Amino acid sequence: MKFYILTLFPEMVENGLHTSIIGRAIEAGLLSIETVNIRDFSTNKHGKEDDYPYGGGAGMLMQAQPVYDAWKWVVERLGRKPRCIYLTPQGPTFQQAMARELALEEELIFLCGHYEGIDERVLQEIVTDYVSIGDYVLTGGELPAMVMVDAISRMVPGVLSNEASGSTESFENDLLEYPQYSRPEEWMGKRVPEVLLSGHHKNIENWRREQSILRTRERRPDLWERYQSKTAGESGQK
Ligand code: ADE
Repeated sequence: MKFYILTLFPEMVENGLHTSIIGRAIEAGLLSIETVNIRDFSTNKHGKEDDYPYGGGAGMLMQAQPVYDAWKWVVERLGRKPRCIYLTPQGPTFQQAMARELALEEELIFLCGHYEGIDERVLQEIVTDYVSIGDYVLTGGELPAMVMVDAISRMVPGVLSNEASGSTESFENDLLEYPQYSRPEEWMGKRVPEVLLSGHHKNIENWRREQSILRTRERRPDLWERYQSKTAGESGQK
């Protein structure tokens, strides 16, 4: 899986994504993350890539030409046009299902805006997907791009050492993950639930499922509602 990240702050993205699990997957050749500095495509002699918005208003806008040329540089090198994701509070909210779907792509381009945004004309020309990571406003698209790259990468086969863990945790089937325990058996007077020490796989599985349900109902009633309506729909179809 190859990620191309168009940004004015490549070092921010590179520093954040070359450590831990993602860093190891890059070294293993399972992923590659290439940053493209939009400033390098400025035709202005001072390397300027922003300007005032027509009609007035606060702040500066990233201009169309350097953004377009940075995108074109990637597309011409590849000989095809991968999906181009623009990080913006104006898109649908990123979800696990979207991460799973995007992990099937061979390449993805992320476009990170800064300042007050990007000239609308270049967005119309190159963007295929508008995606938000939540209902709050950040100073730029770099952190959202990093969030997405991380979540998508761990759905790429081989990136997680334990294949099962990509599909058994929170948000799979709209349920949150059950609580987990490691050694010692007792800590601060709290014991690990007996069932987990029993070695009885069926009972453990049932207990975990029960805990997932309890936890989802309590902590995320919105997910619980979705889970219930889905499972009701499924049993209705049978
Ligand atoms: N850019 C600024 N805020 C953002 C958000 N919440 N999601 C995606 N991109 C953004």
